[in-house]
Amino acid sequence: MDKLIIEGGVKLKGEVTVSGAKNAVLPILAATLLTDDTCIIKGVPNLRDTNTMLKILRSLGKNAELDKGIIRVEAGKFTNFIADYKLVSTMRASFCVLGPLLGKLKKAKVSLPGGCVIGVRPVDLHIKGLKALGTDISIEGGYVVAKATNLKGAHMYLGGAYGSSVLATDNVMMAAVLAKGKTVIESAACEPEVTNLADFLIKMGAKIKGHGTPIIEIEGVKHLHGAEHGIIPDRIEAGTLMIASLITHGDILIKNVFAAHQGAVIDKLEEAGAKVIKTDSSLRLRSKGRLRPVNITTLPYPGFPTDMQAQMMSLMSVTLGISVITEKIYPDRFMHVSELDRMGARIQREGPHAIVEGVKELSGAPVMASDLRASAGLVLAGLAARGKTAISRIYHLERGYENIEEKLRNLGARIWREKE
Ligand code: UD1
Repeated sequence: MDKLIIEGGVKLKGEVTVSGAKNAVLPILAATLLTDDTCIIKGVPNLRDTNTMLKILRSLGKNAELDKGIIRVEAGKFTNFIADYKLVSTMRASFCVLGPLLGKLKKAKVSLPGGCVIGVRPVDLHIKGLKALGTDISIEGGYVVAKATNLKGAHMYLGGAYGSSVLATDNVMMAAVLAKGKTVIESAACEPEVTNLADFLIKMGAKIKGHGTPIIEIEGVKHLHGAEHGIIPDRIEAGTLMIASLITHGDILIKNVFAAHQGAVIDKLEEAGAKVIKTDSSLRLRSKGRLRPVNITTLPYPGFPTDMQAQMMSLMSVTLGISVITEKIYPDRFMHVSELDRMGARIQREGPHAIVEGVKELSGAPVMASDLRASAGLVLAGLAARGKTAISRIYHLERGYENIEEKLRNLGARIWREKE
């Protein structure tokens, strides 16, 4: 196993290009199951999660290859409707093959993904929505076993205790495009990745309206055809790089980013005193001196993303004062707190809140990554810290950040891998 070594204290400078969005490519690849025609997906990041989804498509019988950012998915011998525990358990997003399998094959057996380190992650909303479409669902031996001879459009409310669900909206939308009649999803997720998926489905011949708003309307069609589609830039990678610029008092120009997707993050960084220069496809981030503390609450889009909470916590841990971070999506997503404290941060957790008292400087330390975004938070802390930080279990980072070490090195960071 590799660990990541960072010698902090370098002001990052230069230009960097953001990769395609992990959370867009995974459901879009699942959507290719809805047709026997060839689909071409462009701007694909080469990530561990992308490769896991390719393995799942192949296990179902599709031919799917990634070559230089382009994935070609062909029919192959696609008749298998069972998504195996071994693959699904390594990546929760694989659960979004359930909707397309039902839409296309009218049956599916998909392993329940189980919990994960950021907290309990139920799938009740997925099941509620698919049942509303007339699916017969049971749980057998850790698998969701679903059958639907007659998928029928329905009106449903998909909000849960923590608001809308991204993958439940995706799953239901992908089943409903081939259902008979009209489906209305109320309290649908509005994330840009859901819109990117809906745009792909429309190119395949689906009839969808209202995507990007909390009410999505779908008129079922008889069949979908192949299509070519581009993946949007990864707004979480972009947000992470924005903080890399600020936490190192650097000056980074971030390319291939949609400022319109970064509203909540830009707003908080500006409130903290950052200078953000926007164009349609780039952002430049600078700060004069130390930033001010800000309070953040994570919420579904367009609110502050939970996937940026750990990175923001690292930034707040070196501001001049006290910030309160409230986690409203995953109230237990605070595994990074104790690791940041090991680097000299002063953070106290109180239920779904973290109280961050800014310190003058962090100091490098051996720390452990617990999940994807926590790893990103630790990398940012390591870039700012005095001395050497060694982050173990770095494989988490490979799930969601394409070539991140190289990108940071090109900006001047002293970062490299070593064997544990
Ligand atoms: C997606 C993202 C993930 C991000 C999360 C929240 C992908 C591949 N992953 O995950 O990076 O952190 O959105 O923005 O896009 N919930 C229920 N019942 C359900 C489903 C979800 O109660 O059936 C709850 C969850 O526990 C959570 C909230 O709803 O509290 C939002 O989760 P959800 O949007 O479903 O997350 P994912 O789609 O799994």
